[in-house]
Amino acid sequence: MGMRLPSKCPPPEPPCEPSSLTIPTESEKKKREFPPLRPPEDYPFTAKELAKFDGSDPELPVYVAIKGVVFDVTWNRTAYAPGSGYHVFAGKDASKALGMSSLKAEDCTADYSSLNDKQRETLDGWYKFFMKRYSIVGRVTQN
Ligand code: HEM
Repeated sequence: MGMRLPSKCPPPEPPCEPSSLTIPTESEKKKREFPPLRPPEDYPFTAKELAKFDGSDPELPVYVAIKGVVFDVTWNRTAYAPGSGYHVFAGKDASKALGMSSLKAEDCTADYSSLNDKQRETLDGWYKFFMKRYSIVGRVTQN
């Protein structure tokens, strides 16, 4: 994939939304094949540990957490590598930003209590999208 976001992002219209991403056209279906999901693991990551898996080290897997659940996005690491548009989500729980459709680092926090109902729906959409696409390797612990 290696997609970079266009410079004028986020867009004025509904941005990149999970629902639109889950309805591929026929021609897109081939591109969207991904490795089979592994059985979920329950490793407890601290936020600090999780930060190591932000795609900076090519030897390490890449993780993204949503609502405290850690997903292994390694097979799609180009999307989350340094320099790519979604690197901001890597190695952390980015729940709030995903709910807000924000790519700002300051919005990438695990605490999403400020989200309204609509934004919580968006967040849940991303959670479902990741559940279908990426294996669960653990959860984020308090310290
Ligand atoms: C102009 C604005 C944007 C465009 C054109 C765009 C486009 C795309 C495209 C083409 C994909 C790839 C889907 C795929 O191949 O599976 C994608 C994935 C994604 N987008 Fe966006 N997007 C935009 C803005 C945003 C914003 C503001 C967010 C903030 C939440 C966001 C979050 C994501 C996420 C989390 C993925 C999933 C990456 C993955 O496959 O793991 N996007 N976007």
